[in-house]
Amino acid sequence: MSSAQRFNLEAKNTVEQTLSRKTICNAFFESSTRTRCSFEIAAKRLGADVINFDAKISSTQKGESLLDTFTALSAMGIDAFVVRHSEVGTAQYLSENLPSSVAIINAGDGHHAHPTQALLDVLTIKQHKPTLETLSIAIIGDVSHSRVARSQIALFRQLGVSDIRIIAPERMFSQDLAGPAISHFSTLNDGLQEVDVIIALRIQKERMQNAEIPNFEEYFQQYGLKTDNLKYAKQNAIVLHPGPINREIDIASAVADGPQSVILQQISNGVAIRMAVLEWALLNQ
Ligand code: NCD
Repeated sequence: MSSAQRFNLEAKNTVEQTLSRKTICNAFFESSTRTRCSFEIAAKRLGADVINFDAKISSTQKGESLLDTFTALSAMGIDAFVVRHSEVGTAQYLSENLPSSVAIINAGDGHHAHPTQALLDVLTIKQHKPTLETLSIAIIGDVSHSRVARSQIALFRQLGVSDIRIIAPERMFSQDLAGPAISHFSTLNDGLQEVDVIIALRIQKERMQNAEIPNFEEYFQQYGLKTDNLKYAKQNAIVLHPGPINREIDIASAVADGPQSVILQQISNGVAIRMAVLEWALLNQ
């Protein structure tokens, strides 16, 4: 976190050379704008070479196993892979099966984890509210399919946050999320009472069965974050969303673009966090 804070101040116009002669491969098997581009910018700001592996035109389409594809790329001298995949555990599997000299960074695996998103969210929260332990944090929406929520909850707990509220309809809650510091609310305004931080999530249609996909208008009325709902939270509460946002489904435009929103700050912090993570992963081998 502290090196991310250093990068945040300096990142804008600086290219550091700490990763010069390192080659980083972005290997995204799922769509991404923020995560993929910010990893690329982060790597370039540290002087690394970056290749963007295009899964759609790769030999995995010809039946090659994932491991063979990554082994072939490793043989070309890749030092680190940034991996996003719809299968839970892909990054872990690669880290256990590729040579230990190759760093593997998880950029999202199925509904399981998205660690750099949680780190950039914590950095953003700390910039507004430095004492995390005393905060009440609400996470709204489709937590059951959300790797972002799982990584956030794990990190918040590790950092001592004692009031984490999940606001979701029963069908979007999942028992694996229950546990210390967690409470579950099924009414938006009840869960938002006096919270300091509000995190809205996207409905993960790509991970739902057709029957699970809600009526969006109804969902927005009940769980979409609207200006009216904000009055239940603390007056200085901040609003986060990992993006991509679905306007007027998970969040109203007036809130996403409003004075309490820190959504663009999250995106900027993503570059600093990924610089810190890449440096840590590549220089600590
Ligand atoms: C998230 C993801 O892909 O997990 N987006 C992101 O990385 N910024 C959340 C989402 O897609 O809803």
